[in-house]
Amino acid sequence: MSSLEPSRRDTRLDSYIDQYADRTASMTVSAVRALFSVANRPEVVSLAGGMPNIADLPLKDLGASFDQLIQTKGIQAMQYGSGQGELFMREHIVDVMAEEAVHANADDVVITCGSQQALDLVTRIFVNPGDVVLCEAPSYVGALGTFNAYQADIHHVAMDEHGLIPSAIRDAVTALRAAGKHVKFLYTIPNFNNPTGITQPVERRKEILAVAQELSLLIVEDNPYGLLTIEGEPLPALRSMDPGVIYLGSFSKTFAPGFRIGWVLAPHAVRERLVIAQEAAVLSPPVFSQFAIANYLENFDWRAQIVNFREMYRARRDATLQGLADHMPPTATWTHPTGGFFVWLTLPEGLDSQALLARAVNERVAYVPGNAFYADGFGSRNMRLSYCFPTPERIYEGTRRLGKVIRDELEMRETFGLPATDTPHTPVIGPAPDLS
Ligand SMILES: Cc1ncc(COP(=O)(O)O)c(C=O)c1O
Repeated sequence: MSSLEPSRRDTRLDSYIDQYADRTASMTVSAVRALFSVANRPEVVSLAGGMPNIADLPLKDLGASFDQLIQTKGIQAMQYGSGQGELFMREHIVDVMAEEAVHANADDVVITCGSQQALDLVTRIFVNPGDVVLCEAPSYVGALGTFNAYQADIHHVAMDEHGLIPSAIRDAVTALRAAGKHVKFLYTIPNFNNPTGITQPVERRKEILAVAQELSLLIVEDNPYGLLTIEGEPLPALRSMDPGVIYLGSFSKTFAPGFRIGWVLAPHAVRERLVIAQEAAVLSPPVFSQFAIANYLENFDWRAQIVNFREMYRARRDATLQGLADHMPPTATWTHPTGGFFVWLTLPEGLDSQALLARAVNERVAYVPGNAFYADGFGSRNMRLSYCFPTPERIYEGTRRLGKVIRDELEMRETFGLPATDTPHTPVIGPAPDLS
């Protein structure tokens, strides 16, 4: 080719297009990320992002204590550390997990860069391209992104108002195995599921564990919200009833996400592989963050801080539910979370949450369309509303704006006699779970 002739690559928008690994084909921009740029405008009430509200942390006292930390332990705290994470941090994590009846040994804990990286490491060591990962229908968008990045075949399992339906797990695994598929694990968020807010009652947890045992199915339990209960005490984790469960935890919601500290608790053999994977990924998880969090746990009343968080989120949850009751048309339904950050709304028949989003943003309210939480295109009649960040007053106003958008759309469809959309939607998930 002459040097004056443009190369084939120069004619493309992305000149590296022929170079990428196959696994990038399934990496798409998350709906949440794309939304942030619009939803962050101050005039928009964002019920979209799931940012924890950490404004009430004692910043001045934290600053003084971090200052002290640097002066006394700075050389160690700013050095490389252990690939598994520092022992003192793992011992603190054992205490934190005991709040949800998980009794563990610090040796079986691996520290990660947030539980997001825990998801990555677990998927990395278990999943070959084409292997099946089972998830709730719907499930956390960030987990779907990770599973996709490892070219997993994601299958959703139906939920009701008590979470995953045990017989649906059995049916899915049986059918997939009969078709010659390797089902590697079931990923579940038993407490205040992201995005539905649904919690598995204790009885349901036992049933899920029994089915998993019967099928020799590995469970990966993701529990970043478990301590943020709004009604009642935290429920025992799946891991507390079965030491074979792989458990993921995080300080992102109970302290602050910026430290990027989460963890995996895993059976011993799995833990060894996770440490090797972790060393290959980041050498050692952030050492300074581990010192800072340990310092916080030792010198501040972190349990009282969690109680404060609960009260703060309760006011926001209540404003959301009141606003929805006051402003939604009678044919819309929504979940009643007993903790966590999210309400899952089901639109009246014929409405599509993605199609409505531009109009909603125009009315200065934002949400995440339901199909972001499915790997298979479902969820068009749903939306996730996060109540964690705005003030209760703003949340209430946001539900008023959203109610107007939905009512206007219904009115327009009635006037013009428009047919229902033909995109797939999910069954309506029912009202308040009974957590007895
Ligand atoms: C269910 C779930 N898992 C994992 C994460 C990742 O959290 P982090 O990496 O901050 O610990 C999130 C964040 O929102 C989440 O909702």
